[in-house]
Amino acid sequence: MEPIILGIETSCDETSVCLLKGKDKILSNIVVSQIDIHKVFGGVVPEVAARKHIDFMYKITKQAFKEAEITTEDINAIAVTYGPGLVGALLIGLNFAKALSISLNKPLIKVNHLMGHIYANFIEYPNLKPPFIVLLVSGGHTMILKANDYMDFEIIGQTRDDAAGEAFDKVSRMLDFGYPGGPIIDSYAKKGKDIYKFPKPLYNNGYDFSFSGLKTSVLYFMKDNPNAKKEDIAASFQNALVDTLVHKVTKYAIKNKINDIVIAGGVAANSSLRKKLSEFSSKLNIYYPSIEICTDNAAMIARAGYEKYIRNIFSDLNVDAAPNLSL
Ligand code: KG4
Ligand code: ZN
Repeated sequence: MEPIILGIETSCDETSVCLLKGKDKILSNIVVSQIDIHKVFGGVVPEVAARKHIDFMYKITKQAFKEAEITTEDINAIAVTYGPGLVGALLIGLNFAKALSISLNKPLIKVNHLMGHIYANFIEYPNLKPPFIVLLVSGGHTMILKANDYMDFEIIGQTRDDAAGEAFDKVSRMLDFGYPGGPIIDSYAKKGKDIYKFPKPLYNNGYDFSFSGLKTSVLYFMKDNPNAKKEDIAASFQNALVDTLVHKVTKYAIKNKINDIVIAGGVAANSSLRKKLSEFSSKLNIYYPSIEICTDNAAMIARAGYEKYIRNIFSDLNVDAAPNLSL
């Protein structure tokens, strides 16, 4: 019998619950976004996010079971994000998962949110196998990783300052596009041209990233060129950032003769990143999750939980939220 894992995700501003059967059958995956609540503030307000998770948590869990047409008796384990993320937000999901674990007598599995983003790919690509290279690009992280095995990820490079998603969000704020910046810049960039040459920091220098200088150069450019079209600035900024990501990850993969590259995290939804990577499709196999499971969701948490479940890796009820958790 294939196990059914209940996945719970509350690390930032999405409350999400999923019921996953086996490796890849999503019985239900409910994601409630708080974007409309936070966008008036220009970004996520941690205290508000935590309170909204409380509002949604129980309701969407009931809805998830209803949509999946199963009962709490049918699940085998509860997988929950314990970090990284906003501490108050994480604690809502984590404590809810612990309460369910005690009351239903089902094992608890703690899941690293970053692992979740990577594992989202396994839901849609069941034949994907290590070794492969990962480009993990989210609001808080930018990393190139080498997956040596299912649970063994080696850090090849990472950002020294801003994460890719963070740079999108900050530049979007400068351009008065609002929050969340990534998808908005993505759509404005489609209407603009890549005509301004913004710097590509550390381009030919190892596998680390640095996006804070790029962001500052956009700021200075806007001051010096108040009449420049915002669409063109968006397209030029996006191109500089995406080009750097693609250059480094493909260079590492080709040099090390690993042909599979997995893209993970919210920025993996970026249309320019997907397009530029597809230009390497004759040499490399590029994997990325469909948009629904690219940004924060509980299906990816349930999928990473499944991997621990089949290895009998469970967590005790003392597990604490780990806001700064790394891989
Ligand atoms: O993985 P995610 O949903 O949450 C974190 O774990 O951080 O990533 C959120 C980030 C935000 O910075 C958002 O602006 C960015 O992903 N993002 C995008 C796109 N969609 C979301 N960035 C660029 N292009 C997009 N289409
Ligand atoms: Zn995330």
